[in-house]
Amino acid sequence: MNEWSRETLFKQITNENELRPLYESIQNSAYKQSFHIQPISGLLNDPNGFIYKEGLWHLFYQWFPFGPVHGLKHWYHVVSSDLIHWKNLGVALKPDTFLDNKGVYSGSALSVGDDIYLYYTGNHRSEDWVRTPYTCLAKLSLDGTITKIKDALFGPVKGFTDNQRDPKIIHNKEDGRYYILLGAEDEHNKGCLLLFGSDHPDRDFSFINKVLVPGYENFGNMWECPSIERFDDKDVLFICPQNIFLPGRSYAKHHNGYIIGHMDYSEAVFLPEGSYHELDHGFDFYAASCAANTKSCDKKILIGWMGNSDCTYPVTDNESWSGCLTLPRELKLGDRRLIQTPVPGLSALRVKELDPSSKDLPAKAEFEIETDGKDFYLSLFKNRRSRGLMISFNSYSKKLGVDRSGLSNRFNTDWGESRTLVLEKELTHLRIFIDHSSLEIFVNNGAAVMSSRIFPTEHETQFEISPNADFKLWELADSMENNFIL
Ligand code: FRU
Repeated sequence: MNEWSRETLFKQITNENELRPLYESIQNSAYKQSFHIQPISGLLNDPNGFIYKEGLWHLFYQWFPFGPVHGLKHWYHVVSSDLIHWKNLGVALKPDTFLDNKGVYSGSALSVGDDIYLYYTGNHRSEDWVRTPYTCLAKLSLDGTITKIKDALFGPVKGFTDNQRDPKIIHNKEDGRYYILLGAEDEHNKGCLLLFGSDHPDRDFSFINKVLVPGYENFGNMWECPSIERFDDKDVLFICPQNIFLPGRSYAKHHNGYIIGHMDYSEAVFLPEGSYHELDHGFDFYAASCAANTKSCDKKILIGWMGNSDCTYPVTDNESWSGCLTLPRELKLGDRRLIQTPVPGLSALRVKELDPSSKDLPAKAEFEIETDGKDFYLSLFKNRRSRGLMISFNSYSKKLGVDRSGLSNRFNTDWGESRTLVLEKELTHLRIFIDHSSLEIFVNNGAAVMSSRIFPTEHETQFEISPNADFKLWELADSMENNFIL
């Protein structure tokens, strides 16, 4: 493993000064984001424990402090009152017990009384490297203290591999019970879900069954980061199936999507009402987490990791850091699909409207585009030598495509350099957010989203748009308070 020996991958933080140079490296990077959550140092992956309580949105991210690799995972805590301006609060959960000695893995949150309960996977490994995943609980109280509950809520279930993780806590209003949904795979490595139930949020969970999802018995390996959210009279099941090729996703192996249907918790059956849909049709999106259904807030807000564990990000790897989250999106259930729109407050970041005849693209920008449903193109980050990134719509096939092969910094090329999506209607509206190293495209007022990391060079700064489009372009403000807090 060269530089990333086991010793480095499983290093503990002993002195905060050792992280300073890694923090500085992000602060000095041309690819540091201005309005997206990114790691304080090292690597960020999944959003965890996303919840609204007492006027604040709490969010945690999977974090390896020492470099751009998937080493010993912590939970790092950030908060926001408006989902736009975030500030760092410090490390929430460290891998410092027997149960989580090789990482505090992903999970979810529940508001209970004055506390927020954090459910996570303790990734335990023995000295001979045998893995045992434990489902664990920690309590975050109003004064900010976090206490881990000593014993695990439960350990692994027999008859499944050691891939059993990412607890999603669900308080089911109908029977008043608490359920935990785990991502898992059976002994033949087929992805599935395990369901546990209890009358209490912090004890007595017992295994109910493997969740039956008719039609999805053979749908990739391990289903990571599952969740079920209720939308009026329907349930939406979110999963991240691994090692499966899906239409429009080129050679990408890991995905994040949803199925609309009905969940019967007592019987552990999810009955699909339609097919699996991708949550995001871009290159980099995974492990999304939803904050929903709390007493004080009936909105459903989704945020994802703008990355994927089958991808690497060489440009920032060379600067010793990796990863960022997507913008938060509001979810509504439309006709057979989720509608995903950027949270409304984002327009407050528009600091300056730019002259549409100028071809210059600021490093942080928002486009709002209206077009006539006919063929359309937008090429971003061009210059005299580079074609840039191409977004194009073909009105005959209704195919919308993103092709990033024209950028100088090419990466993850083995998984394909374009993504396509067949729209149900013609293209009429686009809202596009550009931060220093990301691009999020909201299509037809939320009918689809395409999120991607991009690393344009300092010379790739121009754009060109097809003449049949009306558009506005704004330069956006910073909204991250990236202070160094451990
Ligand atoms: C998804 C995932 C989860 C796991 C976490 C570890 O990206 O692999 O299944 O809990 O990341 O960081």
